[in-house]
Amino acid sequence: MLPVTALSLEELRERTSAKWREYPADVLPLFVAETDFPLAPMITAALQRAVAIGDTGYKASRTPLAATYAAFAQRRFGWQVDPARMRSTADVSMGIVEILRRVTSPGDRVVVTPPVYPPFYELVHEAGAEPERVPLLDTGERWELDLDGIRSAFEAGARAILLCNPHNPTGTVHSRESLTALAAVAAEYGASVISDEIHAPLAQPGAGFTPFLSVGEHAERVGYAVVSASKAFNLAGLKCALMVTAGDETSALVRGMPDEVEWRTGQFGLLAAVASFSEQSDPWLDGLLHTLDQNRTLLHELLSRHIPGARYRIPDAGYLAWIDLSDLGWGDNPARRILKEARVALHYGPAFGDEGNGHVRLNFGTSPEIITEAVERIAALVRS
Ligand SMILES: Cc1ncc(COP(=O)(O)O)c(C=O)c1O
Repeated sequence: MLPVTALSLEELRERTSAKWREYPADVLPLFVAETDFPLAPMITAALQRAVAIGDTGYKASRTPLAATYAAFAQRRFGWQVDPARMRSTADVSMGIVEILRRVTSPGDRVVVTPPVYPPFYELVHEAGAEPERVPLLDTGERWELDLDGIRSAFEAGARAILLCNPHNPTGTVHSRESLTALAAVAAEYGASVISDEIHAPLAQPGAGFTPFLSVGEHAERVGYAVVSASKAFNLAGLKCALMVTAGDETSALVRGMPDEVEWRTGQFGLLAAVASFSEQSDPWLDGLLHTLDQNRTLLHELLSRHIPGARYRIPDAGYLAWIDLSDLGWGDNPARRILKEARVALHYGPAFGDEGNGHVRLNFGTSPEIITEAVERIAALVRS
């Protein structure tokens, strides 16, 4: 395992990405899903070499990406995927839209499971369909798919579900049982399952992450996974994702997409993804998971100590914390007041759906110092 520690605030403020340019310098930005860690050494080496030799043209038609991802999936998830049944594109969002366009007709309904990553609503619209909300069930201990609700939606004509596995913002890793049941119900109604697995490399060891396409024949028949190195390795600006299939019809659908969909893959994104998924980057990814494990617990301790009114369940995966601040009495969108008065930028809870009222999403993919400072600033506001 390699130790992975965040850059200093001074270095981070030199970055020009959305996280570091959206707000003035007195705001601690913990909103958008970028991380504050240095790149994994293999990525740095691959990109530096590409810059040195001007390797900045189009992505080649034959690349090591699919085979490298297949080996990664086998090592990390015990999931066997066929490199011949994958295609790359610019990003996960584009992969989702391109698949949705082909599995729905204009006006069809697509199930989403709020609270959920806000662009999901827009991606469904972009594909010409309508989102149908079937909220996650809160058991009091964890969040789960509402399989009865999803069945009713399919029965009433919804043509697909856009699954988030692991789930953003709750960090839930869906159980093998619920994914198996989802696959069966989708197969029964001839509906498609598009599984966004962008956060999968960040599932904590022991969380039991299950790739949707690995749960059996039904999933292989109805499912599409869209994966990327971009969240775990912080490569969102480089543009590379993979659409993965495991059945003949689903593979044919992805193969039938115009070559333009694949041409939009960024060359730097591809080089960085190959470096990320290669075995030599595993010690870095393990180090990152260790750091995030410590951060998710630190956040729990800080909130318990300084903001006892905050309700937060430690996520199974990722670096996003879904925090219920309803008890503070700061209204539906507490992040607004926190930004204005505590100078900490969090993602607005209501953007994830009505279930997000009173909530905020906090990005803990950063240093313990920044997490501590952010909670202390919010705590001071609570006390004032
Ligand atoms: C669940 C989920 N899907 C997709 C994305 C966006 O991915 P991309 O930049 O590859 O479109 C994000 C970004 O945070 C995300 O959390």
